[in-house]
Amino acid sequence: MEDLRLDSLAGVGPVTTKKLADAGIHNIMDLIVRGPVEISDITGMEKDTAEKIVNKAREHLVEGGLISKDFVSASEIYKRRQDIGRITTGTNCLDTLFDGGIETQALTEVYGEFGCGKTQLCLTMCVQVQKSKEEGGLEGGAIYIDTENTFRPERIVSIANANGMDPQKVLDNIIVARAYNSAHQTLILEEVGPLIEENNIKLIIADSAVGLFRAEYLGRGTLSNRQQKLNHFVHLLSRIAETYNCAAIATNQVMASPDVFFGDPTRPIGGNVVAHTSTYRIYFKKSGKKRIARMVDSPHHPEEEVIFALGEAGVMDPEDTEKKTRKTAAKKETKKTTKKTAKSDETPEVSVTETPEVSVTETPEVSVTETPEVSVTETPEVPILETAEVTTDGSSELTTVEAPETLALAEALDEEFSDSELTDV
Ligand SMILES: Nc1ncnc2c1ncn2[C@@H]1O[C@H](COP(=O)(O)OP(=O)(O)OP(=O)(O)O)[C@@H](O)[C@H]1O
Ligand SMILES: [Mg+2]
Repeated sequence: MEDLRLDSLAGVGPVTTKKLADAGIHNIMDLIVRGPVEISDITGMEKDTAEKIVNKAREHLVEGGLISKDFVSASEIYKRRQDIGRITTGTNCLDTLFDGGIETQALTEVYGEFGCGKTQLCLTMCVQVQKSKEEGGLEGGAIYIDTENTFRPERIVSIANANGMDPQKVLDNIIVARAYNSAHQTLILEEVGPLIEENNIKLIIADSAVGLFRAEYLGRGTLSNRQQKLNHFVHLLSRIAETYNCAAIATNQVMASPDVFFGDPTRPIGGNVVAHTSTYRIYFKKSGKKRIARMVDSPHHPEEEVIFALGEAGVMDPEDTEKKTRKTAAKKETKKTTKKTAKSDETPEVSVTETPEVSVTETPEVSVTETPEVSVTETPEVPILETAEVTTDGSSELTTVEAPETLALAEALDEEFSDSELTDV
């Protein structure tokens, strides 16, 4: 956009523009998102100068109607909230929980134990955001910051197919950035502004937001440093969502909390840092083959729970997976009975009509439970590295820290911190 160029600000000449660009600040939005303290830190310019530039940037955006004024009437806030878009989850149950879908201008945190479906929700949303507005999407693309190497294009293809969308087109509208360490993860987010503009991005995902910080900052001594860095990351994510009117999702694992005697003894990692910054917090829990989602913290949703399922289409309504299973089970059974009939010479009418119903109740979830782990564990991890368009030049200079290979390692880390230590910094 022409009027977002840095040199369109009065007093910002080529020298300052270059200084800012060298530090990764490419447009006026970036100035707002990063703020004067950080601008001064990364460019080496005086704090006063940085403040002046950021103030000018803010005035510019207020004039252009892109951000709201410092003092606004409630009705103006109400008007800005009318611009909030919602992305359907493609399920009735989760849409009910989210009151229509995942919102733009907000950070939605999804936390829960391993395998509860956080990544599946993220992958599903990458597809849903691309749907037309009539179908509940925002006709935009997605940026996926993958810190655990769990982005699977194959899952995108099957979710797109299940939604009757062209998988190739859907893949083309997702930009994947593989983050190798927490500094790199933050760097990616700092550089994401121009990509959002150029690619009409409406959804930005950090999966997981906390994992790398947790793996790198070991021991009690580093806790406050970790929380500070994490704080910076989640605030940046939240500000990007607000400034660019896009939705942001951050995932987070849980750790066992030994002080809880009643109810669910798990709590999200990252202490209060993530909690304070996110607008919505959703807790996912496994319950056999089904999953439970609970709205834990929201300024305007009631605290409620819904049951959902995981399947070919990503997150699904439980009845949809049952329907599918029933069909498959019925098909299998029909085949079986036809074979049997051929052998035993029984009248086909009887056996074919009788058996399917028995099989439905006896083997409901078979097809769903048998397939999942294969696709998750077998797919090679290489393609993601190749498509990581956001990866910046500086990445190779940063020290690469291995992501936690096992949950056991990550859990061991958390045991080091007592409850009282997991507070804000
Ligand atoms: N094609 C599929 N069909 C049905 N279910 C699937 C399919 N692929 C994955 N799943 C389900 O999703 C689960 C994994 O969920 P997911 O990867 O979203 O977990 P997560 O919450 O991100 O866990 P982690 O904390 O380890 O990242 C599998 O255990 C399986 O139940
Ligand atoms: Mg995951």
